[in-house]
Amino acid sequence: MKFFIDTANLSEIEEAAALGILDGVTTNPSLMAKEGITGEKNILNHYKKICELVDGDVSAEVIATDFDGIIKEGETLAELHEQIVVKVPMIKNGLKAIHYFSQNGIRTNCTLVFSASQALLAAKAGATYVSPFVGRLDDISADGLQLIEDIREIYGNYEFMTEILAASVRHPMHIHQCALIGADVVTTPLAVISALLNHPLTDIGLEKFLNDYKKGNL
Ligand code: E4P
Repeated sequence: MKFFIDTANLSEIEEAAALGILDGVTTNPSLMAKEGITGEKNILNHYKKICELVDGDVSAEVIATDFDGIIKEGETLAELHEQIVVKVPMIKNGLKAIHYFSQNGIRTNCTLVFSASQALLAAKAGATYVSPFVGRLDDISADGLQLIEDIREIYGNYEFMTEILAASVRHPMHIHQCALIGADVVTTPLAVISALLNHPLTDIGLEKFLNDYKKGNL
């Protein structure tokens, strides 16, 4: 399973990359705004910086919602760097654009996916990745992980090549369950990746080992 970090923060990306487990980055307009990155030129420069920090795919989201606008923005983003994957929302024009991009060698991540039928459409249109939002479904008392399971089954039934990128992943258990289900990728903030490391028995065990070493070497 690939691990992507869901942030536009350069130091967080660097920290995750240094762990040796980072396979890519996802961003969205909210995450870019959180870092204070505004204006087309700055946004494009920021994507380039992100690409230099990680050896893997970097999702960059279009803002346009009309077909021509999505194509124009997507082509500009894709030309920026070979690691860029154009993130396109699951709307009618988005679906058409995903199909266009897939015919023209531009990789895509279909975002804001909340149902298995939307994921089916994304795969049929030729999306490289589909991003079902686990946490946002949980937020409204729906079952986000069940959606990942359903998409896995549907894609398996028809051997779709679209990769399932579990997004809006908020807890270590989300990652654990996504791995059991067979999601291809999870994207999550650094704090959740770091939380995977922790176990109280590891800390207690290490403390005892170090204390015993000190006692034996007094
Ligand atoms: C997906 O790529 C989104 O950027 C992200 O995972 C959304 O997460 P959130 O629901 O925690 O904002």
